[in-house]
Amino acid sequence: MMDHSNAHRFSVAPMMAVTDRYFRYLFRQLSRRSKLYTEMYVDKTLLHQQDNLHNFLSHRAAEGPLAVQLGGNDPDTLAEAAEMCEQWAFSEINLNCGCPSSKVSDRCFGARLMLDPERVREITYGMIRKVTRTPVTVKCRIGVDDKDSYDELTTFVRAVKAAGIDHVVVHARKCLLKGLSTSANRTIPPLRYDVVHRLAQEFPELEIVLNGGIDSLGAVNEHITGTGEWGEYGGGVAGVMVGRAAYFDPWTFRHTDSAVFGSSDPGFTRREIMERCVDRFTEMMQEGRREGPECNRTRHLCLGTVTKPLGYLSSGARGSRTFRQELSRAVQAQSKIDPDTDDFRDAVDRAMALLPEGVLDEPVGDTPECAFGSQVRDD
Ligand SMILES: Cc1cc2nc3c(=O)[nH]c(=O)nc-3n(C[C@H](O)[C@H](O)[C@H](O)COP(=O)(O)O)c2cc1C
Repeated sequence: MMDHSNAHRFSVAPMMAVTDRYFRYLFRQLSRRSKLYTEMYVDKTLLHQQDNLHNFLSHRAAEGPLAVQLGGNDPDTLAEAAEMCEQWAFSEINLNCGCPSSKVSDRCFGARLMLDPERVREITYGMIRKVTRTPVTVKCRIGVDDKDSYDELTTFVRAVKAAGIDHVVVHARKCLLKGLSTSANRTIPPLRYDVVHRLAQEFPELEIVLNGGIDSLGAVNEHITGTGEWGEYGGGVAGVMVGRAAYFDPWTFRHTDSAVFGSSDPGFTRREIMERCVDRFTEMMQEGRREGPECNRTRHLCLGTVTKPLGYLSSGARGSRTFRQELSRAVQAQSKIDPDTDDFRDAVDRAMALLPEGVLDEPVGDTPECAFGSQVRDD
């Protein structure tokens, strides 16, 4: 049985159209211990798609620790959706209070919820009461629009704490609901790590996880151990969540298990990971076709969906662009595939042939010393 303790130390952020089952499987070949998040699912979508939940929520125990993220603003429907998710055995249910997308914030959920801490207290209280075995957590920003003072942030954090939340992921940037696009809201407002470290110091009873702009294991460990330069708040945070860097350069995180958790790394080469992905993705597509409802039976047959997560496994390495271009060319030539044929495997084989053997078979390399001093051990 995999040890899920301390999984909060390193997590991969929920990302729409990225952290689907395919990407998560790929990342699992690099780290068994990290906590992974699903994409955000809107509560009402899940409630209206009861006959199609396999497509959203299905996963194997080996995919864990896996948290599901919910979006919404209605205490009743969120509690109902949380109860439903609990039946699918996620290790955590997370409420999105950080998404600035106008599609989301016009409906008053995502980051807009931070403007109404009382409502979030009510929502999270209702979710916690409905689920008995699964921790409920919150992901938020450090502020929204002009409500960006430290006091306003702590009012929000106190409200969710009063509801019984003890784990808060904080994206270390405020967001602007008007005037900045969703992607600009991930780059333009400055990162304020000091604010998140202060929160961790002043709320030691909470697990405060820092998110935003982290792109190396060295940085992850600096934040956890509190050895970086974060102003006067040096105690460290409970964990770090990484988003874009894990997607655009997953190989960088191949030593997560040893460096952050003190256990052994899976140790697969890129070639082994790609081969495992081709096998498992094919199975997933076949399962999706069997178990999904009639109207959705083609959903998992899009070649782009299954090649997308593989595209960045060789980021930064020689041949990486040509490899990605070949995958895109294959998708343009044939967007739909039949999972009972070798179409997907052939497309990946053709692209892999363009990567140098030194890249495909590069050893994972030495296990770095764990920043926490634990011995590397096999789980
Ligand atoms: C493509 C994309 C989709 C995202 N979707 C979500 C989402 O569904 N829920 C959420 O809470 N945050 C979402 N985010 C924000 C990330 O979870 C994360 O907070 C943000 O990217 C900052 O972390 P990073 O700098 O490590 O990428 C998304 C980010 C990206 C790039």
